[in-house]
Amino acid sequence: MTSLRRILVWISGASAGLGAALAATIPFDNPELVDLSRRGGTPGTHHVAVDLADPESWPVVDKDFRQRIEAGDPELVVFIHNAGTLTPLGPADRVDTSQYTRNVLLNSAAAQILGHSFLSAVSGRDCEQHLIMLSSGAARQAHEGESSYGAGKAAIDQWVRTVGLEQQRREHGCRVISVSPGSLDTGMQAELRATSAEQVPVSSRFRELEAQGLLAKPESVARAIWSLLDRDLDNGTVLHIRDIT
Ligand SMILES: NC(=O)c1ccc[n+]([C@@H]2O[C@H](COP(=O)([O-])OP(=O)(O)OC[C@H]3O[C@@H](n4cnc5c(N)ncnc54)[C@H](OP(=O)(O)O)[C@@H]3O)[C@@H](O)[C@H]2O)c1
Repeated sequence: MTSLRRILVWISGASAGLGAALAATIPFDNPELVDLSRRGGTPGTHHVAVDLADPESWPVVDKDFRQRIEAGDPELVVFIHNAGTLTPLGPADRVDTSQYTRNVLLNSAAAQILGHSFLSAVSGRDCEQHLIMLSSGAARQAHEGESSYGAGKAAIDQWVRTVGLEQQRREHGCRVISVSPGSLDTGMQAELRATSAEQVPVSSRFRELEAQGLLAKPESVARAIWSLLDRDLDNGTVLHIRDIT
């Protein structure tokens, strides 16, 4: 997938975990690659420092989409919305309210608002356009202790199905895909394993997966995610990475 085309790519949460692996395995020459995260620091990225659980950050991202697209006149634009959080893990009636609010704002609201901003920024342009959202098995399987996380991922899936139908009608629509990456060896997984089975019963399964060496490496999953750009998939497809590897 090497190319000398003018390419603009945003990855939310490219400072760590899967997002950093996506940045490290980007399959293009000389892309303008933007990391939307709090920490930044990933080589090869322009860091836009944003706390995406804070609604005040969303117009900052909106402006970044518009300004770079306008200035770069790109032939290919990609947004991978990867940032997410499990915090706070635990039953909905026991967790901290401000942390729970941040979880809902990041996992549910930011995904839709930033997705909307991206679609609006690329609307009417004749360049190739891709939006990929990171989902989770928790969107379909109810995991006690992960209510706002699972609800946010389920919302992402339905948003993608709906927007995919809308974009199909456009002459130069954006291809919108949701992908569950499977169980990955990242900080998010470590947080889950550090949680008691009382708070999150499914945490035991992830401790076993890690002990058996069954957590996937972020780089190999990142390469599979990049391969989605070239695959013949219906707009609005919701898939699990194991379906294509
Ligand atoms: N790991 C798994 O097994 C697994 C399984 C299913 C789905 N997923 C999904 O895959 C994606 C990546 O997960 P991961 O395992 O790589 O997670 P991770 O290691 O915890 O990394 C999360 C990334 O999201 C960013 N982020 C978190 N809160 C943010 C905020 N408030 N504002 C801006 N950025 C924020 C972090 O950046 P900063 O801290 O620098 O802001 C970091 O770069 C997530 O959407 C997750 O739900 C992961």
